[in-house]
Amino acid sequence: MQTTVERGQWGSRLGFVLAAVGSAVGLGNMWRFPYLTAEAGGAAFVFLYIVMVVLVGLPILLAEFSVGRGSKRSPIQALEHFGGASWRPLGYLFVIAGFVILSYYGVIAGWVIRYTVDYLFAGGIAEAGSTFTAYHTSAWAVVLHLLFISVAVVIVMGGVQAGIERASLILMPILFIIVAVLAIYAAFLEGAAGGYSFYLAVDFSELLSFEVFSMAAGQAFFSLSLGMGAMLTYSSYLRKDENLPRESITIAGTDFLVAFVAGLMIFPLIFALGLVGDVGESTVGALFITLPEAFAALGGAGQIVGFLFFSALLVGALTSAISLLEVVTSSAIDSLNWPRKKAAVLAGGAAALLGVPSAINIDILTLFDEIAGQVLLVLGALLISIFVGWLMPGAEEEVSRGASPGPWVQGWRFLLRYVAPVLLAIVLVYQLISSYQEIVGLF
Ligand code: TRP
Repeated sequence: MQTTVERGQWGSRLGFVLAAVGSAVGLGNMWRFPYLTAEAGGAAFVFLYIVMVVLVGLPILLAEFSVGRGSKRSPIQALEHFGGASWRPLGYLFVIAGFVILSYYGVIAGWVIRYTVDYLFAGGIAEAGSTFTAYHTSAWAVVLHLLFISVAVVIVMGGVQAGIERASLILMPILFIIVAVLAIYAAFLEGAAGGYSFYLAVDFSELLSFEVFSMAAGQAFFSLSLGMGAMLTYSSYLRKDENLPRESITIAGTDFLVAFVAGLMIFPLIFALGLVGDVGESTVGALFITLPEAFAALGGAGQIVGFLFFSALLVGALTSAISLLEVVTSSAIDSLNWPRKKAAVLAGGAAALLGVPSAINIDILTLFDEIAGQVLLVLGALLISIFVGWLMPGAEEEVSRGASPGPWVQGWRFLLRYVAPVLLAIVLVYQLISSYQEIVGLF
């Protein structure tokens, strides 16, 4: 079981943290979190969300880190290393989930490319509804999807340090700056206060439902890219002396901050223009229709705002796609002994092909997302928490290496064994029901 190919390693602590934050920050931050918050309790939901990050997000993040760094292997080999051959299937589940998610992620990112270019060169988007329909049904959807995956492939081909780390060190600060600048700009819009109160108005009564609890828990682990071995793979390139709990808190905190500030940017914009009625449930509709309508209503400034917003979205999508591709690539390197370049090209190429049906038919995209993005991820997170919490030998020593000793280790073990699995099982039930309804609705 000796790995023959030389494994990559992060060049710096910051590089690793930004790559992990890059995986975590995506559509979930730029729209899903703000939307859930506004829908379900405002600042009270923010509070609940933070609790769920502590109860579910951080424990599983640390669990993935301990398996990755402890084994220095990609998911399939890592699970076999600690759990024997019977845990290999969980590794396969991770790789399949990553592969399927990447396939349709590229399609959505392709639309984002098209919007970004339109804001830059075509003076913005006037009729967002018809524009979006025209884009996602034209050949552009396929072409830009392929373009996006190609960029991710080129970065992953570069390796851990020269590819992924360097891209993250350049791209993530750009994303932070754009989100901050837009949030500040939005604060000066007339009606900004109304947007804030729509976003954050405290309503604790909303929290008294099972459904809101499970939404918060689900969002906490989704936003941190857990349940498919992305964080596991990234941590397999860490040095042994890295302080895992400290890095976990930095990553989860930054991910939360970006999501929270994204809401401060979005709601004043939508609210100032009286578009609140259009805030539908659909992620796609809100991002590609409602927000462009708000930007159009801003006049000339809207073109700049639109360009910045979609650029930030594109950066978020790219750094997340890199981590998805890296899970598949590193597994191909370790399992098949392929050189990295070959593994990245073939993994990316296969995901690009698998994405073509989603690029042509949005219902197929929805179907893939319901199965892989909603159900498989929760299942993966549930199983990894049980594995590390109950079965993995030496988990406590591994997670403590490089960190200061203390009762947090017992706290982690307790959350991982009892709290996270129960909460995730509830999320899984909700997810199965809603995915089933969604899928039935497609036919
Ligand atoms: N965390 C990403 C977001 O907030 C979405 C996501 C979930 C993801 N799991 C992932 C991204 C795995 C990359 C890899 O949008």
